[in-house]
Amino acid sequence: MARLTAAALLALSMPMSVVSIATPSADDRHCRNLTIPISISATNSNYTIEAPKTNIEVTNLFLNIVEAGKDYAGDHLSGPIAVSGNYSIAATYCTPSAGPGSVLQILTHGAGLLRSYWDFRYAGGNYSYVDYALGRGYSTFAFDRLGLGESSHGDPVHEIQSGLEIEAMRTLTEMLRAGAAPGVPDTFARIGHVGHSYGSILTYGLTTAYPRISDGIVLTGFAVRPTNTGAAQLANGNVLAHTVPGYEDYVDGYLIPGGLQGFQNIQFAPGSFSDEVLLAAAAESAPTSLGEYLTLSEPLFTNNSFAGPVAIVTGERDLPFCGGNCYNESPSVPALSEPYFTNKTFFNATVVDRAGHGFNYDFQHPIAYEAMLQFFDEQVKP
Ligand SMILES: *[C@@H]1O[C@H](CO)[C@@H](O)[C@H](O)[C@H]1NC(C)=O
Ligand SMILES: *[C@@H]1O[C@H](CO)[C@@H](O)[C@H](O)[C@H]1NC(C)=O
Ligand SMILES: *[C@@H]1O[C@H](CO)[C@@H](O)[C@H](O)[C@H]1NC(C)=O
Ligand SMILES: *[C@@H]1O[C@H](CO)[C@@H](O)[C@H](O)[C@H]1NC(C)=O
Ligand SMILES: *[C@@H]1O[C@H](CO)[C@@H](O)[C@H](O)[C@H]1NC(C)=O
Ligand SMILES: *[C@@H]1O[C@H](CO)[C@@H](O)[C@H](O)[C@H]1NC(C)=O
Ligand SMILES: *[C@@H]1O[C@H](CO)[C@@H](O)[C@H](O)[C@H]1NC(C)=O
Repeated sequence: MARLTAAALLALSMPMSVVSIATPSADDRHCRNLTIPISISATNSNYTIEAPKTNIEVTNLFLNIVEAGKDYAGDHLSGPIAVSGNYSIAATYCTPSAGPGSVLQILTHGAGLLRSYWDFRYAGGNYSYVDYALGRGYSTFAFDRLGLGESSHGDPVHEIQSGLEIEAMRTLTEMLRAGAAPGVPDTFARIGHVGHSYGSILTYGLTTAYPRISDGIVLTGFAVRPTNTGAAQLANGNVLAHTVPGYEDYVDGYLIPGGLQGFQNIQFAPGSFSDEVLLAAAAESAPTSLGEYLTLSEPLFTNNSFAGPVAIVTGERDLPFCGGNCYNESPSVPALSEPYFTNKTFFNATVVDRAGHGFNYDFQHPIAYEAMLQFFDEQVKP
């Protein structure tokens, strides 16, 4: 997909005057962009797979990954590999106008998107989860995941994988708890974590490895035992990111949906969105590393022993996790996740009627946000 500039999009899709109802105005927010240095190490997976060099090789790779009855990643795993480095993480920290909240929400985006997913500026702040959270008194910390966007990039096969992503999240969380993140002067009574999609998988993995690191987790666009993931991996229609204008600085092995349709397939559900929103959202789409695809479901192989409250909020028509129908299993695919959280203090699964995977872009976003913030109000706030 050609990258649409913000100006072009504005001309394309913005009504002349935008009235935002029931959401705080942009004046209610104090946001600052930060660059946070981190020094981390992890045990990643050493694959005998090379970064694809052509789009035909990319498609061959995904046809191998989705082959029924086979485990392409597992069959090409030669063992563990130690990775470490000094990286920088690009983040945006926001506080309500009345001052910092006592609870901080750390927001982790999914595959194919960046931190802007949480603060989608279409129609003013109408779709912005950040604005809704600020309006309820929470501070927010959204970051571009390691390897992507304005954060440090890396080797897309051996370095940018789930293992190292989780260590980045751990380090950021510990810095924020200690008041040691540069540019975040505030400290918090509670810190919760919100994920979307792969960001939810990583949040699951973070709290599996470090069961006391969070005071509450909201996993959106998620289920512990997804159904029909193969269809979703192909539906992306991935291509090499650097073959798409605007993404030339990503090396071989960074992949991006191969057009508007690939992005729509993954994030949207029929009837739940406006065409203008799809176009504006697609302009924010971003690469994913091959290493992330290969280790995508690795964190889900282990039961989660997080010792706090858990909420899952997933759109009924979510393709990657529910195969397009969360009620295909009873009571719902997300609700069936409960037993895998073996030490939780609370669990609730919400299925958002007719919404898609990236429901921040959907007409139903206020319903989803209410479920997320109600959970924070009732289970996480001191
Ligand atoms: C933060 O950076 C983003 C680009 O990643 C930009 O769109 C936004 O305006 C910046 N926000 C602030 C508060 O400077
Ligand atoms: C990774 O695997 C390859 C192929 O088996 C091997 O040659 C290499 O030494 C391994 N690297 C590490 C750091 O173990
Ligand atoms: C990170 O930077 C420190 C200080 O410059 C250096 O001592 C260390 O070796 C670096 N670590 C890695 C993994 O590159
Ligand atoms: C479960 O969580 C409690 C704290 O809520 C902790 O004391 C206990 O060790 C945890 N048990 C397991 C098996 O992780
Ligand atoms: C993980 O949780 C599932 C569901 O509760 C249970 O059947 C399974 O035995 C657990 N596995 C381990 C290793 O504890
Ligand atoms: C904001 O979102 C709500 C809920 O989807 C919708 O009813 C309303 O029309 C939207 N407002 C604007 C200005 O887009
Ligand atoms: C679960 O969340 C939904 C809203 O998303 C709410 O209606 C329901 O009461 C919640 N259940 C519990 C037990 O908190």
